[in-house]
Amino acid sequence: MKEKAIQTPIPGGCMGYLSIGKEELAIATELLTEPEKLWRYRENSYTTRFEQAACALTGAKHALFVNSGTSALSCCLAALAIGPGDEVIVSAYTYIATASACIEVGAVPIPCEIDESLGLDPAEIEKRITPYTKAVILTHMQGVPGRVDAVRAVAKKHGLYMIEDCCQAIGARYHGQYCGVGSDAFAWSLNYFKNITCGEGGCFFTSDDDAYARGYYQSDPAGVMWDNGIGDGSSAPYFTRAGYRASELCGGVAFAQLQKLEGNLVVTRGLKKYLISRLNEPKHYRLQYVDDPEGDCGVSFAMIANSKEECKALTEALAKEGLTVGSAYSAAFPDRHIFTYWEGIVKHQGATPKNYPWNDPAYKGTADYSANACPRTLDILSRSLRLSLNQAMSERNMEEIAEAINRADASF
Ligand SMILES: Cc1ncc(COP(=O)(O)O)c(C=O)c1O
Repeated sequence: MKEKAIQTPIPGGCMGYLSIGKEELAIATELLTEPEKLWRYRENSYTTRFEQAACALTGAKHALFVNSGTSALSCCLAALAIGPGDEVIVSAYTYIATASACIEVGAVPIPCEIDESLGLDPAEIEKRITPYTKAVILTHMQGVPGRVDAVRAVAKKHGLYMIEDCCQAIGARYHGQYCGVGSDAFAWSLNYFKNITCGEGGCFFTSDDDAYARGYYQSDPAGVMWDNGIGDGSSAPYFTRAGYRASELCGGVAFAQLQKLEGNLVVTRGLKKYLISRLNEPKHYRLQYVDDPEGDCGVSFAMIANSKEECKALTEALAKEGLTVGSAYSAAFPDRHIFTYWEGIVKHQGATPKNYPWNDPAYKGTADYSANACPRTLDILSRSLRLSLNQAMSERNMEEIAEAINRADASF
């Protein structure tokens, strides 16, 4: 028997930047050699073409490319007129930006427990609904679609808006439909780590004309001045606020990246299915629950150990097999994807000594970010072992990873 299951180097990296090539370079070169083309609102700009292609791909009516995923989330919230005095229920396991977007518009984020889908637990949402709750944001973590139908049922029952944070899950589907498109608004991030990237970027989507106009006003302080047609036909009153206007250079790279998305997803989806097919019946762990495996991007793989002790033993046994993984929640790394590490937020610390939005006179609720607010999330994450997958990996890599897991699971 081989001393270690892992014999072949496992290629690292993220789907988006691994596929940057001559197509992105050609557009960037064109824009820099003809700099008069750099205006994002010019007719037929690459940014506009990205938005049109993203609408065609997702089925959303409107897309607005902006400078980041955080900005795209702020557009979603502003689009739905969410602000001071409002609470927004967010996953206790999501990047801090989901919560900071709420703060940006003056609303208070309320963390909610996850379940073994590693996404929002629909049963726990209801417990956090107050007279101030306006919306729920479902984050699809690590390319895995969350429990969309069940979360939507709760939102509908209580008359809440539903927003989907698809920043980590561009390309994820739910029952055949692109994640986000069935909700009031949704957001993508195109930062360095994402399934498609232009360095930094984001996209706000909605199918409602007024919401689109409002999201646009949020994004550009002189929105009505640019003769770009955005917001035409909407009666939403104009307002001026933030500056998230995107760079056409990023829009161009994003446009090229979008053409590569579905091809890359075929590879990662195939790799993840193959990996799972090679696993023995688990003894010490369960696989992350995935509501719709067909829609999973296949860019991550997670196992949830039955206990913390088994998690530790599995981690050690996997290391002996040449596979380094750590639990998602540990004291070793203050991961900003976990609510207890949302620095500033946990202390209700605002940008000024008034500490808005928590001390805003418009806000009548109480927001708890202590570990007691979502203990099950911390428990699940302290037992979760996660691997990232990408299209540069091979079937051989999957065979060896599966062998490492099978051997580690059988070793104690
Ligand atoms: C779940 C989630 N939401 C929001 C964001 C914010 O995106 P950006 O970094 O582009 O602002 C990220 C980015 O890492 C994310 O992972």
